[in-house]
Amino acid sequence: GPSGVEAARWWARMMRDPMDAYGALFRRYGDAVRLPRDRRRALFLLSRPEHAEHVLVAKQDNYVKAFTYRPLRVFLGDGLLTSEGETWRRHRRLVQPVLAQRHLAAFAPGMAEVAARAVARWPDGVTLDAAAHMRRVTLDIVGRVLFGSDLAGESDATGRALADLQRSAVIGLGATFLGDAGLRRAFRLVPGARRAGGQLDGMLRRVVDERRAAGPGGEPDLLDLLMRDGELPDAELRDEVLTLLLAGHETTAAALTWTLILLSRYPAARDRVEAEVDEVLGGRDPGAEDVDRLPWTRAVLSESMRLYPPAWTIERDAVADDDVAGAEVTAGSTVAISPYLLHRNPDLWPDPEGFRPERFLGEQDRPRHAYLPFGGGRRICVGAGFATMEAVLVLALVSRSVRLDLAPGVAVPSRAEVTLRPAGPVPMLVSRRRSP
Ligand code: HEM
Repeated sequence: GPSGVEAARWWARMMRDPMDAYGALFRRYGDAVRLPRDRRRALFLLSRPEHAEHVLVAKQDNYVKAFTYRPLRVFLGDGLLTSEGETWRRHRRLVQPVLAQRHLAAFAPGMAEVAARAVARWPDGVTLDAAAHMRRVTLDIVGRVLFGSDLAGESDATGRALADLQRSAVIGLGATFLGDAGLRRAFRLVPGARRAGGQLDGMLRRVVDERRAAGPGGEPDLLDLLMRDGELPDAELRDEVLTLLLAGHETTAAALTWTLILLSRYPAARDRVEAEVDEVLGGRDPGAEDVDRLPWTRAVLSESMRLYPPAWTIERDAVADDDVAGAEVTAGSTVAISPYLLHRNPDLWPDPEGFRPERFLGEQDRPRHAYLPFGGGRRICVGAGFATMEAVLVLALVSRSVRLDLAPGVAVPSRAEVTLRPAGPVPMLVSRRRSP
């Protein structure tokens, strides 16, 4: 990898546009790059499946969430995404069973209902912002299905808060030497970060306070479980609800938005989605049992997350020195396993830049950790099954009812901060396939 002035130049490029810098480093230096950070530590950009297998699975005990998660930790604290050790284990034991495969079917009617209601309101001939609408649908779904709370009205403000938060998290990367408390104080001085914190805390208080006021009733849901006496201290309850609301909607919204963009660019793939959905559903709403009966729709979503993985980089700090498939990683160094780079590695994927959903149909003989949209090892996405079912149901509902076309000649630049998402609004023209 680069050193000296050259390395400093790469770091500067990284702060401006991390994903672009990762891509350029990969093209310039190959699939194992070392970028020095200071005298002892470096950033390792590793993009072979055996790297992912080593860091995320085989030797996961030697790795903790990287310093790059520290700015995010200011907001999400001891929630699942940013905690470690005993706290993480306690939270994971609480949340994981609720999102386990055998419980997912119970969420399907709520997911389909939210999506159906949203799509029914899209009139023929109107141009709408697909990104904002997908965020609204997915926030409404987690709110309703996991927390029994109506959050659809919050999605625009939350979207702005999330954009602010992600920008602050990237800027905060330059200030992680301040430590957690110092970072927290620093963020109070950044107007965007302060606004984001206020907005998110407001949303959270509404969710929790409403439930406290309503008291228990009906089947206990995830919120009842998290709020049960003696389970979590107040601060940890706040952190976990916020984590699930954020991690549980923005990623799925990004995956769906990229999918709609790709389908608009590849009409043959879209025709096939529409034909499959029409054949399997007839006119009815999709349910849990349909997810396995829509293989092409699923393949389209997988291919979309290959090209545009919403979690585009997964980063860990090494506790002790380690040899990662030949890369000598010194203690305290950061290892970046980037799904974005893995998913476009030409050694693993023929025609890596092409949109070819058929690679996800039938037998697939690629290495096990070549495809990592949900990460791997014990920190694998706790909502992977939930997200998959949700994305299939929402895409099926959209495809059954409308066709969305990106205005000709509109470019969709991406923004890669914490998540990889379209940088701005995504204007798409609605043509109704059936009346609401
Ligand atoms: C963790 C991706 C949807 C909740 C992760 C990780 C990835 C990921 C890659 C691992 C991060 C790491 O190892 O550093 C995605 C994608 C989604 C999605 C691409 C949608 C397409 C969801 C949903 C939920 C959720 C729907 C909740 C309902 C979480 C949580 C963690 C996590 C709580 C932290 C888990 C832990 O460390 O124990 N996600 N996710 N995600 N995800 Fe997701």
